[in-house]
Amino acid sequence: QNESEEVRGLEGVIALSSELSSIDGEAGQLVYRGYDIHDLAENASFEEVVYLLWHGDLPTQSQLDALKSDLRTARELPAPVIDILRQAPDSAHPMAVLRTAISALGLYDDEADADSPEANRRKATRLLARTPGIIAAYARLRNGDEPIDPLDEASMAYNFLYMLNGEAPGSAAEATFDTCLVLHADHGLNASTFTSRVIGSTLSDMYSAVSGAIGALKGPLHGGANREVMRMLLDIDQKGADPVEYVQEKLASKERVMGFGHRVYRTMDPRAAILRDRVQELSEERNATKWYDYSMAILNTVKSEKGLDPNVDFFSASTYYMMGLDPDLFTPIFALSRSAGWTAHLLEQWADNRLIRPRAAYVGKTGRTVTPIDAR
Ligand code: SDX
Repeated sequence: QNESEEVRGLEGVIALSSELSSIDGEAGQLVYRGYDIHDLAENASFEEVVYLLWHGDLPTQSQLDALKSDLRTARELPAPVIDILRQAPDSAHPMAVLRTAISALGLYDDEADADSPEANRRKATRLLARTPGIIAAYARLRNGDEPIDPLDEASMAYNFLYMLNGEAPGSAAEATFDTCLVLHADHGLNASTFTSRVIGSTLSDMYSAVSGAIGALKGPLHGGANREVMRMLLDIDQKGADPVEYVQEKLASKERVMGFGHRVYRTMDPRAAILRDRVQELSEERNATKWYDYSMAILNTVKSEKGLDPNVDFFSASTYYMMGLDPDLFTPIFALSRSAGWTAHLLEQWADNRLIRPRAAYVGKTGRTVTPIDAR
């Protein structure tokens, strides 16, 4: 590739090799370490998938018990980080609060700059273990409520829902949320994962890399889309608008319909297909089929008029909403799950590191000489 060939947004560029996840954009397939996402969504818990991403194989029962024990031991939040959450202005963007709190975790981790594989595995465990508590504490503090401690033996999915409202989630809610965490855990070199690897490739630290990744995920073209999808569905509902006309107006005014399109998938995102069925079930269970009906009307319109398929963010929005989750937490929840992928990619990057530094085609002016300022 000579200097003049710019590839916009690095589309189609293979930047590095990875054993973590594979996406077949034509077939609409996603695989983590050789396991198809449908198989994992059906038959593995989030903690099993975390172990798979970090270690390369699904855990035995004793390996899973050890991981769960490590996560329990590591999850207590440093008091100053809770204070940062207390002081965050109500107007602050939820992902800016999460980015700040995760970055602050690094200030109180005396291994923050230790770069041995063992120290990085411990930091990966601490980061993943603490993220649910940070999000739940933030959600409660901004409502004027005190944070709730997690229950000792419960799963991450159970404890996240429990820490939000102090009630035991039903087994169906726990299973649905656990599946959502499995579905969001990793996804090749998406913008936030690539960001984490670029930062890690300079041999900077895990907290810097994950904070940067959260910054990338915040954007509405990436993880921020699920919050925008819910804003659209709520707007349609509150206005009593016809979803077909609503989205046709967006398309006519060249606006992007959030939750649709993807840089890699050229057919439906398999995660969206899995969540579409969950939304249908949840909407029937909760007698709230309007969310499924709006979604399918929008899906059919965007597909027929723009040829675009939904991505994971389109159906995750109504899944979380029907579970009673605050839309402001939708992208932080995405970050919770993707912390498993980000840290797995960092461990992989550091196992065989090379600085990530592409080139730019220079298209600026040339051959200029300085004129003294009083003559400019
Ligand atoms: C995630 O990369 C990942 O893997 C991300 C992710 C993960 O797990 O990490 O899968 C999670 O981020 C999913 C994507 C969430 N984002 C959104 O839903 C935002 C809306 N989507 C688009 O902005 C867009 O589809 C992107 C950003 C996802 C991908 O954009 P590309 O590949 O850069 O495509 P593009 O912007 O060049 O669009 C190509 C054409 C354009 O039309 P023309 O200008 O050529 O006529 O498709 C149109 C775009 O206008 N288009 C859309 C659209 N997405 C693309 N038109 C309307 N609505 C949309 N959503």
